Amino acid sequence: MTPNDSRPDQRKDLQDFVGLSHAPIVAYLQKQALPRMPRQKGAGALPGIFQKMKIFLPNNQWRWLSEYLRCRIGRKHPFLCYEDPERDNGIYHLEGDGEHDADEIRIALAGDWGTGTDEAFMVAERIKSFDPHYAIHLGDVYFVGDPTEVRENFLGIPNPQHAYKPCVWPRGSRGTFSLNANHEMYARGYGYFPLMLPELGLSIHGRPQGQKASFFCLENQYWRLVALDTGYRSINIPIIEDIPFFSPDCALPGPLMAWLRESVFRPEDKRGIILLGHHQYCSCFQAGYTRQAEQLAEFIQRPVLWFWGHEHRLAIYEKFQAGKGITAFGRCIGHGGMPIALPPDQVIHPECQAEFLDYRPYPNDENLKIGFNGFARLTFRRETLAVEYVDLNDTVLFEESWKIEEGGALERTAASDAPLRKPQAMPIS
Ligand SMILES: [Fe+2]
Repeated sequence: MTPNDSRPDQRKDLQDFVGLSHAPIVAYLQKQALPRMPRQKGAGALPGIFQKMKIFLPNNQWRWLSEYLRCRIGRKHPFLCYEDPERDNGIYHLEGDGEHDADEIRIALAGDWGTGTDEAFMVAERIKSFDPHYAIHLGDVYFVGDPTEVRENFLGIPNPQHAYKPCVWPRGSRGTFSLNANHEMYARGYGYFPLMLPELGLSIHGRPQGQKASFFCLENQYWRLVALDTGYRSINIPIIEDIPFFSPDCALPGPLMAWLRESVFRPEDKRGIILLGHHQYCSCFQAGYTRQAEQLAEFIQRPVLWFWGHEHRLAIYEKFQAGKGITAFGRCIGHGGMPIALPPDQVIHPECQAEFLDYRPYPNDENLKIGFNGFARLTFRRETLAVEYVDLNDTVLFEESWKIEEGGALERTAASDAPLRKPQAMPIS
């Protein structure tokens, strides 16, 4: 039996991830409140607050401190690069069932999926039913992306300390990849680089060849998908990093910039550009990370489509540019596996205009007021791209079509007539 073959309710609950802190020291603490087995639901269930109070038990306090010191203190895992570019430079041919660029190519994208919850399992099942040629995770394995969590919540290897069924990230028939993110770096990348990446990468005869680095490019004669690592520099000096003034800017590391400069971008290249990253360039509810967009302006002078996660919601943004950064159509798909924050009525950053937000409350047996998990389905046909944003029930919420114009600019040719306003409250069954 594979990890995804069994019932969905044997996995973790969303309530254990509600309010998860971006401060690593607090995330390590919240991790201690996770029950050791799936909890009883309905009448007779222990109120969630009692479970959360367990972090104050002496055993859990000791475990918190020892895990934090062991996993968070010390040097980061070395940043991996393409050491032998003659054999592998991280630029791979994007292909579907055949080897022709005219073939249909399907890519599934999800962000912030690595919770190991019942909902993450359901999203993975939907991705599998899409039968993608490539399945790409935009990063974040929870709580802190340590080796045990990477095995249990991403690679489908049970944790002997728990009674939960593990979750496995679905495979693409041509390739399976995962981006680096802040939670992977809370354990200094020692779950992500040495354990996760060797299990991913291009698939040849059904076998993963290993993802050699946290950045890569998939391309054909029409498109280039450039995957970035915004996670490696998302941590700073332990404890000090939790003070807002010292928050890292998630800049693209030097070796990644050198790869973009020397191997990827050429001024004469007029293919359509799609960026994949973890941290948001913009948001109408949270501050954006603009540093990467400024770095990318060295190479990109035309609007791009940019998929990211980090913020746990689905949001389709209008064309956006900050300062000297690139111009992008941002798509936040950080709704893969975490509890989804319903959009507040108040927009905090009006400079970032949302075209679509999902206001629907997700019916659940945990009494949580949250939104729906889901992912994005990309289908390429020559110079056209169709994107469907779907939830864990396979409902298409928003769809759009793009075409590459002369000069490599992207033009949207069709889109859902999507409601932006908050709909009438829907009953929670
Ligand atoms: Fe994140």
